[in-house]
Amino acid sequence: MSIPIILDCDPGHDDAIALVMAHRSPDIDLVGVTTVCGNAPIEATTRNALRVMDFIGAEEVPIARGCYRPLARPLRLGTADGPSGLDGTPDLPDSDRAVEPQHAVDALATWLREAPEPITLVPTGPLTNIGLLFLKHPDVKPKIKEIVLMGGVFYRRSEYFTPTEFNIFCDPEAAAIVVDSGVPTTMVGLDVTMQVLVEEPQFEALREIDTPLGRVVLDWLAFYEKLHRGTMGVGGALHDPLALAAVLDPSLIETRPAHVAVDLRGTVTFGATVADFWGERELPDNVRIATSVDADRFFALLYKLLRD
Ligand code: RIB
Ligand code: CA
Repeated sequence: MSIPIILDCDPGHDDAIALVMAHRSPDIDLVGVTTVCGNAPIEATTRNALRVMDFIGAEEVPIARGCYRPLARPLRLGTADGPSGLDGTPDLPDSDRAVEPQHAVDALATWLREAPEPITLVPTGPLTNIGLLFLKHPDVKPKIKEIVLMGGVFYRRSEYFTPTEFNIFCDPEAAAIVVDSGVPTTMVGLDVTMQVLVEEPQFEALREIDTPLGRVVLDWLAFYEKLHRGTMGVGGALHDPLALAAVLDPSLIETRPAHVAVDLRGTVTFGATVADFWGERELPDNVRIATSVDADRFFALLYKLLRD
């Protein structure tokens, strides 16, 4: 039985690879795609979703355009994907198909209401559309099986320290609505996504997938890795593909329950995701957090989906 999912994304190189994996996996029924601002403005992320989906032959999957700015703050664009949101690749032709007539938030509600069974939501960008969905259409929550999102950072380890992760930082108010929505939610954060880095060994394996799709993915990752190397001194982290992969094979990650709060008031820490691992605030657990990942099995799954 394939898993029905909706991917809410801000392509974005890693979002684009998550789209490729979702469409190519026989175990996933990609019901629809919604776009949000984040890595690039909504016009660019929507253009990229359309042209990536056309390129991989997914013209039948509906795409609905979403929010152009966060719920309560100005848009702060991500810096990992270039102005187009998908720099560094031979320009994929633009799609000539239109997005859905409904706004993404309403399309999400329609797709969920019409679904014969509950759908897994996979947000891989800022959570603006999902937060607004819960404000405008709270009745759809029972039609969501679970949310598996890329977002947050919880264990402040010394090898890299960042108080916030971009998807949450970009729209903290939306993230606060989602973590307290009551919908079963797993947060796949930097703690694990920074362990699935594309570096030379991974490039070697990708070069062996010598297909038109493999070559485009290689181009995307060459740009993405170079930019990451320049800014963070590490390879390109496959953040969003890991969130998608965790839906396909939950055993790729280990998770634990926790109460997570999103800092909305910090002057330098707003957008931080703070987990109360020891229950000191005596608040009920509201999400699960990814705590470890089997990186080798993740890459094996990625190569398989690109190759088959
Ligand atoms: O912090 C990583 C997240 O920010 C990923 O979703 C990436 O695409 C960017 O949106
Ligand atoms: Ca993203």
